[in-house]
Amino acid sequence: MPNEYYRWAPGPPNSYGYFAEHYDELGWVRFTNSTFRKLKGLINKFKITPKEIVDFGCGTGELLLRLSKHGFTGAGVDFSPGMINRAEEKLKDVEFELFTADICSADLSREFPLATCFFDTINHISTRRQIKKFIKNARKHLSEGGMFVFDFLTPEGVKDWEGTEVTSNEDHFILQQGKFIEEKGKALVTIEGFVKQEDGKYRRFQQFLEHKGITVEEMAQYLNDAGFEHFSMQGFYHDWELDHGGRILTVACK
Ligand SMILES: C[S@@+](CC[C@H](N)C(=O)[O-])C[C@H]1O[C@@H](n2cnc3c(N)ncnc32)[C@H](O)[C@@H]1O
Repeated sequence: MPNEYYRWAPGPPNSYGYFAEHYDELGWVRFTNSTFRKLKGLINKFKITPKEIVDFGCGTGELLLRLSKHGFTGAGVDFSPGMINRAEEKLKDVEFELFTADICSADLSREFPLATCFFDTINHISTRRQIKKFIKNARKHLSEGGMFVFDFLTPEGVKDWEGTEVTSNEDHFILQQGKFIEEKGKALVTIEGFVKQEDGKYRRFQQFLEHKGITVEEMAQYLNDAGFEHFSMQGFYHDWELDHGGRILTVACK
């Protein structure tokens, strides 16, 4: 069987192919639990109104779904048709516009009081020029006083992708292999496996991903260059010292 049959990687590198169909079931959606908790805290603290959000790299729409239960509407952008399909299924009864587009250049022609981008989406952008472009684009979509909340992995955080993990049960067998390339500060990850279909047969998929680490100093520069004058960064999971933190939560205000 030709490789492309089970890879189906539409669009540029890091666009999710068949993996999109298994993303939630394979447990990656669990990250949204922590994201949502943190975001809810900020929304309550800063009393975001109107309740409108744009989620860049919205994936399968899990964050938007949870926010919809708290009265939010708005938009999601992702360049993987597979991820957008999943998001459309989940969000069919609520008011969100979904766009299959690159977050670095998407133009939604409207502004939001809240923009988000979570779980390695920024680390998937492979060049500095494009990251810069994305941060500017996110700011462009914020109304005056709006907040851009996102996380990113430092090179130290990206290193955690190194290694091999196997998960196996009656329904699936998944092999995840990552290699960290120190001099480039990036991890190359392959996720492949077999997932049981309704007819009892197993379907093979394979996904290649690249995660590029971004230092706190680099990110501060990107934010400054984009015109953000006020921003704060802290370790995502605990109140880590920044130089020990692998995943950094950032809040930037327009
Ligand atoms: C690890 S997933 C995270 C999805 C979601 N934010 C979450 O927390 O579950 C990364 C997502 O970013 C999307 N992505 C990566 N680079 C992108 C780009 N330049 N433009 C649009 N989407 C992008 C991928 O298609 C994928 O859905």
